[in-house]
Amino acid sequence: MKRFRRLRANENLRDLVRETSISKNDLMYPMFVIEGSNIKNEVSSMPGIYQYSLDRLDEELYRAVSKGIKSVLIFGIPAHKDEKGSEAYNDKGVTQNAIRHIKERYPELTVAADVCLCEYTSHGHCGVVHDGYVNNDETLELLCKMAVSMARAGADIIAPSDMMDGRVAAIRKALDKEGYINTVIMAYSAKFASAYYGPFREAADSAPRFGNRSSYQMDVANGKEALREIEADIEEGADIVMVKPGLAFLDILKQASLTYNMPFAVYNVSGEYAMVKAAAMKGWIDEKKIVLENITAMKRAGADIIITYHAIDVAKWLEEQQ
Ligand code: PBG
Ligand code: ZN
Repeated sequence: MKRFRRLRANENLRDLVRETSISKNDLMYPMFVIEGSNIKNEVSSMPGIYQYSLDRLDEELYRAVSKGIKSVLIFGIPAHKDEKGSEAYNDKGVTQNAIRHIKERYPELTVAADVCLCEYTSHGHCGVVHDGYVNNDETLELLCKMAVSMARAGADIIAPSDMMDGRVAAIRKALDKEGYINTVIMAYSAKFASAYYGPFREAADSAPRFGNRSSYQMDVANGKEALREIEADIEEGADIVMVKPGLAFLDILKQASLTYNMPFAVYNVSGEYAMVKAAAMKGWIDEKKIVLENITAMKRAGADIIITYHAIDVAKWLEEQQ
């Protein structure tokens, strides 16, 4: 008989043979910065997550940094939206101002900028729309301008989340041309057209005003295509590749991380957060245990970086366990 239980007999033995562990170093915390002043709005479908105006962002930054969070992902919500999302590439835009502010306060903190137009366009789509269809190549030009503007504001990582074809190569070229040769590209490579983004669209005020994102984001049914997307982004020069959402797509993360020798990120998205929070608030699940189990599963599947709204809580729980 194989006695698997031999190594489960006590905590020390279990600690010795544990295959996967999570660390604060793995966590990236998403933050929402909204134009205006004296704003702290809780996102109704994401308890504990707020939109902050820049003048109030410090309280949240301090909360993250003091718990040992080392990287953040910034989403800006401009007051003015238009057809071409012009605030996305305005050097004085809300996101650029936030990045500059954060890098002034915390030069060591790694700041990633989400690069996509949907928070900035009046129609809420991720690119330039003609006759209801997002034009790929026109969008690329704007994404390049946006990426350079974010790098100029001080972003360490550019994270394109738009799912236009060819954007990694285009952005790499644009960054290099402006001298930002060391700005990292973390590509949302396998990003699915998922219902799990629902709460985010409230947080970022980025819901499409018509139609959906299925003509540019991936069909959730396609795993092989996800590998082709990841491969293309690697060839185009991505430094880090991402699978998004997390939990329902761990098969893809696992396969991709075994296939490509690259740093992998996974996005534990808003809907995953909302489900856990809702059940926890009802007393139906143990929030801490569920979250740590989920994060461990993402690591086990091959994630090096976990982008999660639970980051501050996870950092706190890890501290308590020491
Ligand atoms: C922007 C973007 C989205 C998310 C990250 N960047 C929303 C979308 O594509 O509609 C989702 C993040 C989340 O749900 O937590 N394109
Ligand atoms: Zn978008």
